[in-house]
Amino acid sequence: IKITIIDREGVRHEVDAPTDMNMNIMELVRAYELAPEGTIGICGGMAMCASCQCYILNEVPLQEKTPDEEAMLWEAFNVKDNSRLGCQIAITPEIEGLVLELAPE
Ligand code: FES
Repeated sequence: IKITIIDREGVRHEVDAPTDMNMNIMELVRAYELAPEGTIGICGGMAMCASCQCYILNEVPLQEKTPDEEAMLWEAFNVKDNSRLGCQIAITPEIEGLVLELAPE
């Protein structure tokens, strides 16, 4: 599926995201090296660091936030109404066309 990621410099990248590799958005950003090593995915995808925070810019059917994700976003900086943790968004066919922006470091 296609996913559009706006990096922290404001550059837009439309990338191919595999739905059969059990990947999440944080891992996708790392795979395409859209954020410097060590600035995203610090907790390894456990919803414990918020380094993978992103802003969702369009309407796609995302899974609901888990209590862990809610709790982490409660503590994180630069949180907006459309904030999500990239590591908690699985790449599935339903999110085709998702557009998101990486939150500041
Ligand atoms: Fe740490 Fe997502 S990678 S919260």
